[in-house]
Amino acid sequence: MSASEIRYAVIGMGGIAQLHLTHIASQPGVKVVGLADITDPKTWRVPEAHAAAARFQDAEKMMRETRPDLVSVCTPNKHHHPFTLLALRHGAHVACEKPLAMTVAEAEEMEAARATAGRLGGINFSYRNVAAFRFARELIAGGELGRLTRVNTVYLQSFLGAPATPYSWRNDVTLAGFGALGDLGVHMIDGVRFVTGLGFQRVVGLAQRLIAEKPDAAGRRQAVTTDTNAAFLAELTGGVVATFETTQVAPGYGNYFRLEVSGERGTLAVHSDHPDEIWLRAGATLTRYATWRTDLPLQRLPTDFAGRQGPGTPAAIVPAIRGEKVEYPTFADGLAAQRVLGALLDSMQSGSWQKTT
Ligand SMILES: NC(=O)c1ccc[n+]([C@@H]2O[C@H](COP(=O)([O-])OP(=O)(O)OC[C@H]3O[C@@H](n4cnc5c(N)ncnc54)[C@H](O)[C@@H]3O)[C@@H](O)[C@H]2O)c1
Repeated sequence: MSASEIRYAVIGMGGIAQLHLTHIASQPGVKVVGLADITDPKTWRVPEAHAAAARFQDAEKMMRETRPDLVSVCTPNKHHHPFTLLALRHGAHVACEKPLAMTVAEAEEMEAARATAGRLGGINFSYRNVAAFRFARELIAGGELGRLTRVNTVYLQSFLGAPATPYSWRNDVTLAGFGALGDLGVHMIDGVRFVTGLGFQRVVGLAQRLIAEKPDAAGRRQAVTTDTNAAFLAELTGGVVATFETTQVAPGYGNYFRLEVSGERGTLAVHSDHPDEIWLRAGATLTRYATWRTDLPLQRLPTDFAGRQGPGTPAAIVPAIRGEKVEYPTFADGLAAQRVLGALLDSMQSGSWQKTT
């Protein structure tokens, strides 16, 4: 291995693995040495450039035989914890998918094991890559909105509700841990932490399952055991109130994540479907004047803003491994979001507010 080479492996060769492979393996000096999944290797989608990498149906064997420096964990949520611990035991850094784990206890163990191993842990909170979200964060940190007063966010999808989408692990609470709450809600939780810079203090929420069963790929009807809808309220640092709604069954919505923040001087909103636009109402400059219009300007991000960003998650862990000072979502961020998810589950059972720390 040359000094700068990073040996890279992936566990779980489904949809999101394609993104990890494309983005991480395209970083300079990264060599794909192993791919693992429980299914037949001939059925995997492997980008042409990495077709020659060794394939394994046993992740432990892959770790022993290929000795990777960095491992992406791209399996269903239930396996994030054991495969992360496996990779750390073998001395690898880990780029894990979200949510970090099934429970707070698992997430705490993963972060503790990472610290003990002296390795880096990244989590793929992918909305941190959206230029509009980053720009909103910069504006808020720079005081454009003044002291923050409210946050509202929705994340709406419909594909899991569509009759044409077969039952999958995402509908099974023993594999997914959560439905919309963990799949989409976790992006909202991290999005609010990232864009506003505020932490969560306490939460109260409600979840529903609006689909009782779905046919699997073989046409057998299977019980859906995950929530399809969740709504919750949070008190953030300093008493700022944030409202959240997420659903997997809102016909007409593709992948719609909208985050709006108000402060004493203005309001801004960002949408996942419009990665280079920001809806900025008032702000430090315009707020000196009264207005009767609510459709104040839609701003295009400055054209060089996205170009000035470094590699996004999950690839930002690569320069971090090389000792470069880059910001990326870490296991600590994953654990913070997991604490909010855990408090929400407790709240949904007890019907009461729950602390998130
Ligand atoms: N960051 C994002 O925006 C984003 C987007 C999509 C998915 N995800 C996350 O990525 C993970 C995977 O989702 P996906 O959409 O790729 O699912 P997927 O079903 O497409 O792929 C999962 C893969 O894991 C494999 N697998 C299952 N059990 C395994 C085991 N014990 N050992 C090895 N391989 C195993 C499956 O065979 C499959 O190939 C989930 O945690 C999901 O939440 C994140």
